[in-house]
Amino acid sequence: MVKAIINSHAVILTSPVYGFNVSGAMKAFIDHLCYLWMPHRPHKEMFSKIGMIISTTVGAGTKFTNKTMKNALNFMGVKRIFSYGFAVYAVSWEEVSLKKKRRIEKTLNKKAVKFFNTVKNGDKIPCRIYTKILFLMMKRLLSGYEDDNFDKKYWRQMGWLNKVKPF
Ligand SMILES: Cc1cc2nc3c(=O)[nH]c(=O)nc-3n(C[C@H](O)[C@H](O)[C@H](O)COP(=O)(O)O)c2cc1C
Repeated sequence: MVKAIINSHAVILTSPVYGFNVSGAMKAFIDHLCYLWMPHRPHKEMFSKIGMIISTTVGAGTKFTNKTMKNALNFMGVKRIFSYGFAVYAVSWEEVSLKKKRRIEKTLNKKAVKFFNTVKNGDKIPCRIYTKILFLMMKRLLSGYEDDNFDKKYWRQMGWLNKVKPF
């Protein structure tokens, strides 16, 4: 699974809103990949990826759900992250009005085109300041660890404790 993510150009995370946040399955997925977060052992390939986040809810809002997924991609170093969350005000897709379905489809299509174009031009897109600052903060954190710390050894091996950067 991690290999498939590393070999991809983009990462899409989706979840319904469960209890104001991501589903248990998505949380387990995120937790499983926490070792790839910047304070641990991020893959340098993640710094060139484009992300997309989508969530649906009955009506409670998708802010926290999207934020949880966005945090995961941000901390893995993902270069750009698009997101879309929508409330359907119904318990099943069949109950959603045609008008609402069309509106969702229209917005989603627009986002998809933007996302696709960004993936296509990924090489030309610079690293965000946010990622650069996060990386520098983590570098400082890791530098303070004991030399035999597992994550610190990885960072040293990557050259990231010196001048080398993954972006
Ligand atoms: C366990 C569970 C918890 C849910 N929690 C919320 C919630 O907190 N707020 C909300 O608006 N909808 C909530 N819902 C409704 C789902 O967000 C909504 O039905 C979702 O769009 C359906 O996706 P699914 O069919 O893939 O599960 C919940 C549904 C389930 C099954």
